[in-house]
Amino acid sequence: MGGGGAAGRGSGAPGVRGPFRLVVLASGNGSNLQAIIDQLHGRPAGAGGPVIQVALVVSDQPGARALDRAKQAGVPTEVCAVASSGTRESQEGAILEAVRKAAPDLVVLAGYMRIVPPEFVRAFRWRIINLHPALLPAFPGTTSIKDALEHGVKITGVTVHFVDEGLDSGPIIAQEAVRVVPGDTAETLAERIHAVEHELLPATIRKIAIGKVKPPLPGERVVQVD
Ligand code: GRF
Repeated sequence: MGGGGAAGRGSGAPGVRGPFRLVVLASGNGSNLQAIIDQLHGRPAGAGGPVIQVALVVSDQPGARALDRAKQAGVPTEVCAVASSGTRESQEGAILEAVRKAAPDLVVLAGYMRIVPPEFVRAFRWRIINLHPALLPAFPGTTSIKDALEHGVKITGVTVHFVDEGLDSGPIIAQEAVRVVPGDTAETLAERIHAVEHELLPATIRKIAIGKVKPPLPGERVVQVD
């Protein structure tokens, strides 16, 4: 990982590791944020690994349930809505500033329903991951569960990937398949996809925190996961 990266932030004392700081961006329900809080927050990433800390939750939606979940867990929150910022540009600037202040080792887009601007991607290159409810590069966008079902695929799934300047286009870190069964509706399929997300996302964050995930070499796409 670049910057603060997988090593976590130093506490100042030689050999003593500071927490691995996560900032989570979420727009809605926040069930994946909840999985992160329940499985990772305040716990070591692995034997000898840094303690993972959810340092901040940012939402673009003032009413997002994710904010309540964060508050419930004592995690600081920040709302950066277009309405209060005035313009899309000032909202994006406010988000970037809030995230920068929180000094994250990793930014997690967990149900964040906006494309992050290029400036944000540049500021946290290889330190932003997104969770997507399909097997990318199939079915990018915001309606992927419905799209996969309507397309008639027999297998779909979940992807965790680095965020680049495109839409759901960054290098893939982890994927897991979910079978489509006869009679599935978007709701029943989403339920099984979410269950997989709630395991895959925390497991991937843990691997990143202990340095097991290496960004691709320049010009390549393959992410090495030990
Ligand atoms: C997840 O399905 C995620 O893949 C997608 O948005 C959904 C968020 O769900 N990007 P939740 O808000 O974490 O419950």
